[in-house]
Amino acid sequence: MTQASEMSSDVPSLGRRQFMNLLTLGAASGAVGGMLYPVISYFVPPSSGGAGGGTIAKDSLGNDVVASEFLADNAPEARVLAQGLKGDPTYLVVTDDGNLEKYGINSVCTHLGCVVPWNASENKFICPCHGSQYDFAGKVVRGPAPLSLALAHADVTEDGKISLSPWTETDFRTDESPWWA
Ligand code: FES
Repeated sequence: MTQASEMSSDVPSLGRRQFMNLLTLGAASGAVGGMLYPVISYFVPPSSGGAGGGTIAKDSLGNDVVASEFLADNAPEARVLAQGLKGDPTYLVVTDDGNLEKYGINSVCTHLGCVVPWNASENKFICPCHGSQYDFAGKVVRGPAPLSLALAHADVTEDGKISLSPWTETDFRTDESPWWA
């Protein structure tokens, strides 16, 4: 598959530079707004892409995310952007007891593709573009976004890195089939 053809037509992606800028600014700041991106793939391909396999999450510098370091650096209930499946900016989640949540949350708004910042004080993801809101797990609670944020499985590999893999099962937030699969 080619880099250009592997992008889903359903989920626009950020350019690499904008993604890195966003990570640098910090998603929680809410300072990143008004960004609307067409389907442009400018990411390096995932480092591993075996059949149905996981992709190691990358930090803002492009380094693999090591679970122990990630959990040491981030407080319970944090949601932190990393580069995930197909290069999509994806939130890694720390549970309230300080472990890695079993799912990552794709940050691309299901309305028109803005990256949705996490607002810790509101306990929601709030899109800066047209005001859509998603709860702490990425379930849409206010439009115009028509759908919840996509999920990915998040796991720790044998060598301690965080791996994201496609979520193809029922969406536990809606009890429906995943729209992104
Ligand atoms: Fe998020 Fe429109 S792109 S509300």
